[in-house]
Amino acid sequence: MSGNSVLRRARVDGRDAALDAATVGVLDDGFARGDGAFETVGVWDGAPFRLLDHLQRLAASMDAASLPAPDLDALRADVEAVLDDVSVDAVVRVYATGSGTRVVTLEAQPEREAPRRLISQPAPWIRPLGTWALAGVKSMSYLPNMAAGRAAQAAGGDDALLVTLEGFVAEGPTFAVCWMRDGTLHAPAVELGVVDSISRRSVIEAAQDLGVEVVAGRWGLEAALAADEVLVSSAVRPVIALTAIDGHRLPEATPTADQLADVVQQRRRGR
Ligand SMILES: Cc1ncc(COP(=O)(O)O)c(C=O)c1O
Repeated sequence: MSGNSVLRRARVDGRDAALDAATVGVLDDGFARGDGAFETVGVWDGAPFRLLDHLQRLAASMDAASLPAPDLDALRADVEAVLDDVSVDAVVRVYATGSGTRVVTLEAQPEREAPRRLISQPAPWIRPLGTWALAGVKSMSYLPNMAAGRAAQAAGGDDALLVTLEGFVAEGPTFAVCWMRDGTLHAPAVELGVVDSISRRSVIEAAQDLGVEVVAGRWGLEAALAADEVLVSSAVRPVIALTAIDGHRLPEATPTADQLADVVQQRRRGR
């Protein structure tokens, strides 16, 4: 089946619900304290891309927060249930709360404009791995990330480019960032405390397959501003090339970003 009508479904603890009618109790720790973890999974032509990687990352987030291990078999069955009969592009979200509630939702992919102009914002909550166990956890408390995005919009950008207290370029509030400079793909190291992005893994694999050298490391804003192409990626969008950071225009030609976007998108569609 296709069409938007199928794209608003949910399962709460294994029970089907229409998305707008699905509920979680106000006493649930996920609601009351944002205590829990989540995943956002891209669905391409009806198929969830790298679902196992997402479920494993969810388990890692729960473990890092000392929360009970989620029932990955049950969550996988929930995902299959909401995707039954779906053959279009969509977004699946998977939540496991501190109260043990599991929620899976299915909806259309975002229609809002892709972020192309970023404004740097401090992200003091991003701590280098090894200094804070929760670095990189996709927790259900995304308020700092969303607030950084709003601050960037108030400053005239589309979204935020998060920079750590130490001055290292980290990621976006809901997407990974990397850039091309002199033929090499530069990816902020996961050890910075950023989310271990699954689309970033796909971009890196695509680059390696195309013979592009890849380095992971720590760089300041000046490195991103001097890049030949800056890419942003998330599980639910095509890979995108940025046009500006902090009002500084980036080069218009983005050949490698375009090529990487093509390869990633073909893989998402199983081609
Ligand atoms: C803070 C943050 N960084 C990066 C990403 C990109 O991760 P992925 O490629 O797995 O979607 C996300 C996705 O939600 C995120 O929230």
